Parts: sequence; structure tokens; C-alpha cells
Amino acid sequence: MGISQPTRAPEIIREQKEILLSQINEILESYKGEKAELIPILQKVQQKLGYLPEAGLKQIARYLNVPESTVFGVATFYAQFKLVPTGRNTIRVCRGTGCYVRGAPQILETLERELGIKAGETTPDLEYTLETVACFGSCALAPVVVVNDRVYGRMTPDKAKKILARKEEK
Ligand code: FES
Repeated sequence: MGISQPTRAPEIIREQKEILLSQINEILESYKGEKAELIPILQKVQQKLGYLPEAGLKQIARYLNVPESTVFGVATFYAQFKLVPTGRNTIRVCRGTGCYVRGAPQILETLERELGIKAGETTPDLEYTLETVACFGSCALAPVVVVNDRVYGRMTPDKAKKILARKEEK
């Protein structure tokens, strides 16, 4: 067995954090630093990064000269804001009764197994986020899975695997 190499993970994480912070700085430069700009700034940062990193929220608090708790409070109050990164593709599995009785649990299990994550999580490569939804309102098509904006009705575990395979071919 070879000698294990020291991991570069902490270095990579530090570099990524610095990149994120400099991207947020660029955004902040286009604002005046007024408290009323908090929500527009959060929206802009999320639009650019896909989520609101914790260090970024602290940076925004300093820039606007408001307590960190205010910024965290606003970021967690509104459902539009995400505090963890989401994948480039979002897969939503319906867990409503109509879909449940037609096999949604097996579809969810298959997706969890294939992606190696649980519902509510994102793959480490940030390719997929897996979520469940109460009902899409398309119960006649049950079981329903929505990938990004595309609705797939009468889903089966096999069809779910094929959707993943097609995305990976691209
Ligand atoms: S129960 Fe699944 S779409 Fe309504």
C-alpha cells in the first residue's frame, strides 16, 4: 500500500471561498451600501452564485453596516433564498397521494440510489439536486417527476434511470 498523499481539500475550499467572496465584492461595488438594498443584493448574489454562502452573508452585513443576524434573518425568512448550493439540474419527485399509490416511493428510491444522495440533497459535483414536492397538480399523469421545467408523467424506476443516463450523455 502506498504512502497516502496529503489532501488538498482544505486548500481547494479556501480558494473557492476566496473566489466566491471576490464575486460578491464585485456585486457590492454596484450598490451604495444602504440598508434598503439588502434584498436586491441578496437576489443578485443568489442569481450569480445560485445560493447565498454563509461567508457572503457576513460580507454583505459588513458592507451595509447591519447586524449579521439581520442579514441571516432575511435570507432564511424568504423561501426564494437558498443557503446551500443547488445542482445544475433539479429533479422533483411528487410525493402526493395520487403519485404515492402509483409508485412514487420506488421512483424516489431509484433516484436516491443512482445519484447516491437523499431527497433534499445535492450531488457533490453539483450536477443534481433531488427534492420532493407535495403535488404538482398533474395527478392524472401520476406518478410525476419534474426535471428542471420538464414534466414527466407515468414515470417508472426504469424511465427515471433513462432520464439520468440521457443527461449524462450530454
Ligand atoms: S399527487 Fe402527484 S401530481 Fe398530484
